[in-house]
Amino acid sequence: MASNSSVPFFSGAVSLRRQWPEVSALVRQAAAAGTFVSDRLVVALEEQVARYTGARNAIACNNATDALALMLRAAGIGPGDEVIVPAYSFFATASCVVHVGAEPVFVDVHPQSYALDPEAVRAAIGPRTKAVMAVHLFHRTADIAALRALADAHGLALFEDSAEAIGMRVEGRHAGLWGRAGVLSFFPTKTLGALGDAGMVLTDDDELAERVTGLRADTGSLCDEIQAAVLLTRLATLDRDIQRRAELAAHYTRRLAPLAPSVTTPVTAPSGEATEPVWYVYLIESDRRDDLVRYLADHQVGTEVYYPRPLTDQPCFRDLGGARHPVPVAAAAAERAVGLPLFPDLTDEQVDRVCDLIHAFHGGTR
Ligand SMILES: Cc1ncc(COP(=O)(O)O)c(C=O)c1O
Repeated sequence: MASNSSVPFFSGAVSLRRQWPEVSALVRQAAAAGTFVSDRLVVALEEQVARYTGARNAIACNNATDALALMLRAAGIGPGDEVIVPAYSFFATASCVVHVGAEPVFVDVHPQSYALDPEAVRAAIGPRTKAVMAVHLFHRTADIAALRALADAHGLALFEDSAEAIGMRVEGRHAGLWGRAGVLSFFPTKTLGALGDAGMVLTDDDELAERVTGLRADTGSLCDEIQAAVLLTRLATLDRDIQRRAELAAHYTRRLAPLAPSVTTPVTAPSGEATEPVWYVYLIESDRRDDLVRYLADHQVGTEVYYPRPLTDQPCFRDLGGARHPVPVAAAAAERAVGLPLFPDLTDEQVDRVCDLIHAFHGGTR
């Protein structure tokens, strides 16, 4: 077995040390100019992210939770409207709908992509449905072409919670740009992470962008120059980081695939679409997930349970009429799924240590 040292779920310490000279030079410039919030560095970040993603507009704000609500409000989603959302996602995917006064309608996800199942969406469309919120989780996109076709056929707006999806493209089009608008999160653990909170709205719709910009000012949801300094610096190495994440994910899969069916490794080939996976989270399923998490913690290996319960089981959503549709896939994922350590500074030896432990646990040789 590889060394006994601990393996954190996430660490950006090494890359931060490496990039600190550039980051601190930018921060010093901003401080000398007396510009701290939503100024030159933020504008530069917006331009560079727009270039990277191909978006006509990239509007930086406080975080993706805000970005989601700004996007919906700017598009006129509000009281009386229903928005179809997946039952398996981060809380903000659905809370943004409530935030603008509309009603989330939860439907099930696909067992391989963990994203909206187009058939479940079709079955949930009703007279008050105004929009569909596609979410791209972990390493791959939703079946976004099918969701786009479905939304178009029913005259619905398509939005994307692409908070986790920087770098993910389908048929060359970046996540977040398949519908009216999408978002990015720059939370520190994300593929492109800040040193604190930051987020963005992406849209090709200029009018919507203008309304988002107005609402951003009204709500004070601003991005500060320090986060922009970090993000501008890290954007320059993003593709290299994405490549390293892919190598680490391939290493995990090589080591863990033989443990099937007790352990399920992520599926990368999405139903015939030309997609580019980006390994934000390496998610496995285990038939003894909670015991495995405890065993790894006992051996100083960090994990993260994504997501511990379907959104329909959140008390705040239970009474909103959201649990109208069965969500067995979301429920099973909430019991079985767990994210393993994955960040560009992770070493192959650390991956081997995690895999050795999972083999010991599932093979009964611990
Ligand atoms: C799918 C999804 N949506 C929304 C968010 C919210 O992002 P933020 O933390 O920037 O508010 C996250 C981030 O955790 C996420 O993973």
